[in-house]
Amino acid sequence: MSIAHAPPSAPESAASAAWAALASHARGLAAHSIAAQLEGEGPRVSRLGPASWDYGKQRLDARAWELLLAWAEAAGATQAIEAMFAGESINRSEARPALHVALRAHEEDAGDIAPEAVRDAIAERTRMYALVESLRTGERRGATDRRFTDLVHIGIGGSALGPRLVCEALDPRSADGPRVHFLDPLEDHARHELLAALDPERTLVCVASKSFGTVETLYEAEQVRAWIRAGLGEAQRGWARHFVAASAELEAVRAWGIEASQMLRTWDWVGGRYSAWSAVGFPIAWRLGAAQHGAWLEGAREVDRHLREASLAEMLPLRRALLGIYLQAFEGLDSQCVLTYDGRLRSWVPYLQQLFMESNGKCVDVEGRALPASSPASPWLWGGPGVAAQHAYLQQLHQGPRAAAVEFLAVVRDPGAAPESHRQRLTNCLAQSRALMIGRQVPGEPHRCMPGDRPSTLWLLDQLDARAIGMLMATAEHEVYLRGALLGVNSFDQWGVELGKGLAREIAPQLDAGHDEDASADSLDASTRDLLRRIRAQRDQSL
Ligand code: F6P
Repeated sequence: MSIAHAPPSAPESAASAAWAALASHARGLAAHSIAAQLEGEGPRVSRLGPASWDYGKQRLDARAWELLLAWAEAAGATQAIEAMFAGESINRSEARPALHVALRAHEEDAGDIAPEAVRDAIAERTRMYALVESLRTGERRGATDRRFTDLVHIGIGGSALGPRLVCEALDPRSADGPRVHFLDPLEDHARHELLAALDPERTLVCVASKSFGTVETLYEAEQVRAWIRAGLGEAQRGWARHFVAASAELEAVRAWGIEASQMLRTWDWVGGRYSAWSAVGFPIAWRLGAAQHGAWLEGAREVDRHLREASLAEMLPLRRALLGIYLQAFEGLDSQCVLTYDGRLRSWVPYLQQLFMESNGKCVDVEGRALPASSPASPWLWGGPGVAAQHAYLQQLHQGPRAAAVEFLAVVRDPGAAPESHRQRLTNCLAQSRALMIGRQVPGEPHRCMPGDRPSTLWLLDQLDARAIGMLMATAEHEVYLRGALLGVNSFDQWGVELGKGLAREIAPQLDAGHDEDASADSLDASTRDLLRRIRAQRDQSL
């Protein structure tokens, strides 16, 4: 079992002493099996609204939880929460607050959350609802005076993942509601297939980009604008009526040609991966209507209130953050696999991947000090639909040489599903969780043995509705923030994505260079130069 270095805290501080006590206890727990612990401690479940989180199949005993909470207190969990809600610049490297909680707040919360942000958020949400209503009712129409039936959402990362997750999770059965389609930038084949099925006169486009500078998103928006203009024929001067935008850079949006009345704003105090609650979530209001959008926000607000009112011991997002830290630090589980047993949550893993790994996948702390390679701030998060995984990679989770931290997610009531398939999904979910823990010994047939004693947790949602998905997303946001804060990581910047973007700009001209490379190729490494040569030669050959 790998014992991680203590998180960055002053030597001999209360936090380092608490961590040392925890590490010592963790060493002792290694000899205890999960099954025995479960018998001794009994089921452990935290409930929050329509969601229950089962964390009983874990090696931790009550004492381990006490020590984890003592460390969390000493490491500043309470102060971190205060700082976020007060609008302090917790995004230190960009000197910005992180106030996504303001996006789902009520007026009366302004006393507890940065008041100006709350008021701005409520005002902009009111504008968004009014715009959505005018578009849904046909008060606002396209350039040929046709009502919009379909929305094409163009965005990437946090400007698409959250809205897509919610629209898929809550996709109303009614086929007559306005439709929404998410375009992944640069995917020409998918774009051609989608646009071939749409009527440009009745298609609305949302360009979501906080920076309004993301190359892929703007390229995609150009392609769709060209399709809209071509489809409008003589009415193409009115193309802007088909576009709305959600951005923090309204001047850039205006320069692109979108009308002020169809611009919606987000702010620099909203991180991209935390922005679905802002105007970036336009497709949610379009698809589901203001009431469902509001219920979704309310689910998240319930978790925000929970964070303000619960004790640390009862704080579910903190408990989740602490378990993740424990598993990575003391059981060496760097890999976290999330398995969903409801197709409406097919975008849950991609959403979590950005939230966890773009937030906490850092090698320095907020002070710029190097974090140890063993830092338990961020797992490699992966996974996907559980039923399919059972016939694909669950083999390695059961019989591989190393375990992963596994989380299952299932929905108890699914009235829209056929009873038999729903029953099979639930039984499979429970069976896989149990199998990881108990394993199997087959004397004389080692190839059929499974070590077992592998931990997992299980989210059970009573039903998948707006409130539940709002709570689930907000819980994940706070879990990520607390995990980062306790370990000294800034969960709100993402400098690591900049280098690749810059190198792409450097390499691009080389793809267009003739056979004789231009001088700038010398700045490239031999591998990249050779690959460029091959691509050019292969491409020219096929011309
Ligand atoms: O490049 C990373 C990133 O900035 C993410 O943090 C963000 O969610 C995504 O790209 C899209 O950025 P924007 O909303 O500015 O287009």
